[in-house]
Amino acid sequence: MRSVVLLTALSAVSLVSSAISDSNVVDDLDVISQYWGQITPYNDNKPSFFGVKKVGLPDGCGIEQVHVLHRHGQRYPTSSIEDGGFIETFVAKVKNFTSAHPSAQFKGPLEFLNSWTYQLGEDLLTAPGSATEFTSGVRFWKQYGCLLYNATTGQPRYNASSVKRKNPVLRTTSQARILQSAEYWATGFFSFNSTKSYDLLIIPEGGTENNTLASYNSCPNDGNSSIYYIGDYAAINYIPLYLKPATARISSYLPDGFDLNMNDTYGIQEICAYEVAAFGESDFCSLFTLAEWEGFQYSTDLAYYGDYSFGNPTGRAQGIGYVQELLARLMNQTITVSNTSVNATIDSDLSTFPLGQPFYLDMSHDDILLSVVTALSIEYFKENLSMSAYPPDPKRHFMLSHLTPFGTRLETEVIGCASANPEAKPKALTIYSLGQNGYNPSDTAHRFIRMRWNNGILPLDTIPGGFCTRPDGICALDKFIASQAKASALANYQYACFGNWTLDELKFVEDGNIFP
Ligand SMILES: *[C@@H]1O[C@H](CO)[C@@H](O)[C@H](O)[C@H]1NC(C)=O
Ligand SMILES: *[C@@H]1O[C@H](CO)[C@@H](O)[C@H](O)[C@H]1NC(C)=O
Ligand SMILES: *[C@@H]1O[C@H](CO)[C@@H](O)[C@H](O)[C@H]1NC(C)=O
Ligand SMILES: *[C@@H]1O[C@H](CO)[C@@H](O)[C@H](O)[C@H]1NC(C)=O
Ligand SMILES: *[C@@H]1O[C@H](CO)[C@@H](O)[C@H](O)[C@H]1NC(C)=O
Ligand SMILES: *[C@@H]1O[C@H](CO)[C@@H](O)[C@H](O)[C@H]1NC(C)=O
Ligand SMILES: *[C@@H]1O[C@H](CO)[C@@H](O)[C@H](O)[C@H]1NC(C)=O
Ligand SMILES: *[C@@H]1O[C@H](CO)[C@@H](O)[C@H](O)[C@H]1NC(C)=O
Ligand SMILES: *[C@@H]1O[C@H](CO)[C@@H](O)[C@H](O)[C@H]1NC(C)=O
Ligand SMILES: *[C@@H]1O[C@H](CO)[C@@H](O)[C@H](O)[C@H]1NC(C)=O
Ligand SMILES: *[C@@H]1O[C@H](CO)[C@@H](O)[C@H](O)[C@H]1NC(C)=O
Ligand SMILES: *[C@@H]1O[C@H](CO)[C@@H](O)[C@H](O)[C@H]1NC(C)=O
Repeated sequence: MRSVVLLTALSAVSLVSSAISDSNVVDDLDVISQYWGQITPYNDNKPSFFGVKKVGLPDGCGIEQVHVLHRHGQRYPTSSIEDGGFIETFVAKVKNFTSAHPSAQFKGPLEFLNSWTYQLGEDLLTAPGSATEFTSGVRFWKQYGCLLYNATTGQPRYNASSVKRKNPVLRTTSQARILQSAEYWATGFFSFNSTKSYDLLIIPEGGTENNTLASYNSCPNDGNSSIYYIGDYAAINYIPLYLKPATARISSYLPDGFDLNMNDTYGIQEICAYEVAAFGESDFCSLFTLAEWEGFQYSTDLAYYGDYSFGNPTGRAQGIGYVQELLARLMNQTITVSNTSVNATIDSDLSTFPLGQPFYLDMSHDDILLSVVTALSIEYFKENLSMSAYPPDPKRHFMLSHLTPFGTRLETEVIGCASANPEAKPKALTIYSLGQNGYNPSDTAHRFIRMRWNNGILPLDTIPGGFCTRPDGICALDKFIASQAKASALANYQYACFGNWTLDELKFVEDGNIFP
């Protein structure tokens, strides 16, 4: 196994000899927090971030409906190894050492450790996390809500007659941070006393139920460590490739006899990011160079590519449930039979799976968002990521800090246009912005799809098959639906999730799936 080779090689090297100067350390949080993978605070991507050159809404077109798949806000670490697992071992080591050596002194930039206590919780939404979700709800109101609703009456502006319910149904899983994120988001959108304005469908997670927003629960192979952890193993093996000098440097501030290994150093990077997620600052953040933060980011890219995206055999399977729901909503259909993570009881009933809502909000997890773009075959994100490149390729597309920061949102816009072939516009107008220039809702015979990932327009022309070809990321609704005709077959859900297969090599799979 690769890990054995790397770690053996490592133990022979003298760590202290490779210390480098502290002058390369970067402590500006605005800079380094852009490299924290799934722990990154929310930032918009530029509309053109994913390579779509023309980012305006064509004249004569308007936004008619938006489907939002959203990630929760900042949380405390989870105990999974690549997320918070190395924090726990480092903190235990500090506690153990200081109780055995009460007079031991930490020096230099680690002096604060002489009086530091660990205060992070586990799993739950933090206060900044609630603000992220609230802000996102407010922003959604500004960006879309006033286009979709008459702000005076609160009534949907378009297709009001097809909305059978008074309140829109928002969906969330039952997990505390997800549920609270949905509530904060809705409070931002609907304002105070908002629970009267929407119905929240809480779908259980944590057992073996079908839940498209927590699809690992119904996919046993996804929870099988021999399969699921391809990404974790890749990340863990990557750590020694970039943290050797940092480990030597940090060791020089530690009391004699404190044996810091590279996993501990990784844990320190994680504590920095998580203390910022919880408290807004951290003394652990002034210890690393930018290159070391780039290494950290890449370790998260490897972890998520290999666990949830094209690199994992269940990558598509984990996302296909939401894709089926999105397509059903776009085709104005319920789902009556399921052989995926879809719960057909929920999705066949208009009271729990309403059609024609002006917008949908589904609160979920980072991994589900990644699996959804995988299941959609947005091949822009399909790459041969090297498991050993340091520094990592700066031109890669799968850069987790831009894909799943806290508060991530995938917005599928339904756009109505007067013309079947509206002229692509290079620039987006600012707010209200989304254009609506010359848009007349009674004269929009043609419908299109556009997807935004943290505001960046997704290149739907990278879906194979030549269905979506416009340079502005907009794709005719019927062509978009046609582009997904093979999505379920490619996910191969039953075999990927229940099949008796295993992997004998630490290697990303090519296409997010597996066949017998
Ligand atoms: C805890 O400290 C003791 C005494 O210094 C040491 O022998 C032991 O290996 C330490 N355990 C851990 C988990 O660091
Ligand atoms: C909102 O609805 C009210 C009441 O029907 C109507 O008078 C008003 O013109 C509408 N506003 C807009 C901007 O459509
Ligand atoms: C919220 O609801 C309560 C009880 O119905 C009411 O007394 C209060 O005025 C409402 N607050 C706002 C800001 O609408
Ligand atoms: C599907 O949803 C129904 C209604 O909420 C629930 O009773 C049932 O247990 C769910 N089934 C699965 C497999 O999750
Ligand atoms: C780091 O953690 C990994 C995964 O638990 C383990 O295999 C490896 O031995 C650890 N390395 C060190 C130096 O403790
Ligand atoms: C969508 O389906 C619903 C429920 O079947 C129906 O009431 C509504 O008229 C349909 N809307 C459109 C635009 O086809
Ligand atoms: C899954 O169900 C759909 C209907 O919802 C059906 O068209 C498809 O053939 C089924 N696939 C498998 C592999 O059972
Ligand atoms: C839940 O998922 C399983 C496995 O894909 C599927 O066979 C079953 O029909 C689903 N249950 C419901 C209620 O949709
Ligand atoms: C709005 O209604 C029109 C006419 O019934 C229908 O063709 C269109 O698909 C609907 N749009 C949405 C976003 O539901
Ligand atoms: C990855 O590398 C293989 C073998 O060199 C090649 O066939 C494949 O097209 C590459 N995939 C991508 C997405 O670049
Ligand atoms: C799974 O496959 C392995 C290897 O082919 C075989 O030995 C084992 O019996 C199979 N297990 C089940 C439950 O079918
Ligand atoms: C995981 O997969 C291996 C190899 O197929 C199998 O032996 C084991 O039983 C599976 N574990 C679980 C929990 O499904």
